Formats: sequence, C-alpha cells, structure tokens
Amino acid sequence: MTSSQAPPPAPMDSSIAADGKDGGRQATADGLSRLLADSYTLYLKTHNYHWNVTGPMFPSLHLLFETQYLELAVAGDLIAERIRALDQPAPASYGEFARRTAIDEDDDQPDATEMVRRLVAGQHAVIRTAKAVFPAVEQAHDEPTADLLTQRIQAHEKAAWMLRSVLA
Ligand SMILES: [Fe+2]
Repeated sequence: MTSSQAPPPAPMDSSIAADGKDGGRQATADGLSRLLADSYTLYLKTHNYHWNVTGPMFPSLHLLFETQYLELAVAGDLIAERIRALDQPAPASYGEFARRTAIDEDDDQPDATEMVRRLVAGQHAVIRTAKAVFPAVEQAHDEPTADLLTQRIQAHEKAAWMLRSVLA
C-alpha cells in the first residue's frame, strides 16, 4: 500500500526553494539557456570561419579557430547539463538558440581580419550574457552555477585576448 512506500526523493537543489518561492532558480536556468544559445552560436560562427578563412593568415587562423570551436563545443555540453541539473529543459535547436542568442548570424563572407573582429565581438557578447546571470545565481545561492559562469568568463576572456592579439 502507499503508506509503506518511501517518499519520492527530494530535488537535488531543494534547499533553493525551501522558502516556498522559486528563489532565482528559474531565472538562473533562463540565463544559462541564453548562455548556451550564445555559446552554440559562437561555436558555429567559429567553425564557419575555420572552414572558410582564406589568405596569408590561413594556417594560423585555421588552427586558432579550431582550438576555440572545440572548447566551445565542450562548454555547451557543460552548460546544458547544468540546466538539466536544475530540472529545467535545455534548449537544443537552431530556432531556440536564434531566439535567445545575442550574437548575430553572418549574411556575408567576411575576410580574415573581419572574421577575427567579429569573433572578438562574439566573445565579449558571451561574457556579458554570463555576467548577467549572476544576480539570479546569488539569489538562489547556487555556487555550482557561479563556478561554471566564472570558468566560462575566464575562457572567453582568454579567447578574446588571443583574437585581439592577431589584430595588434
Ligand atoms: Fe577542421
């Protein structure tokens, strides 16, 4: 009978909602969804440039872009799985990403220097998106998400520095 059944396990982060309110958890997941959309869109843009870059900088840019799109692919998985750990669905289609991302798609074929400029702008856009999630994270006392955001900001600042150094 039901009286002998154990109660269902509590959600992993049940302490977040201990006051009966959302406590920033939904806003955290929404912010992470925007970060995932930015990361995936920047991944695709960087992979595009890896394929289509031309000119005397081709060997070095082809490799630099590869390093950066591979890092972004791994990051997307980590961000999506953090959203799932918060019991929210992770967006996972081009349409859902396009609605959430702050990064524009290209409708032209930029030259190598313009590719680097656009990637610098993209890296900075992701940093802004990540920083915007912190108020909700602090409200939720969500240290694991704060740690993930800090690592993502650090990675994007390093990537932006490497790209800016190409333009110097
Ligand atoms: Fe390749």
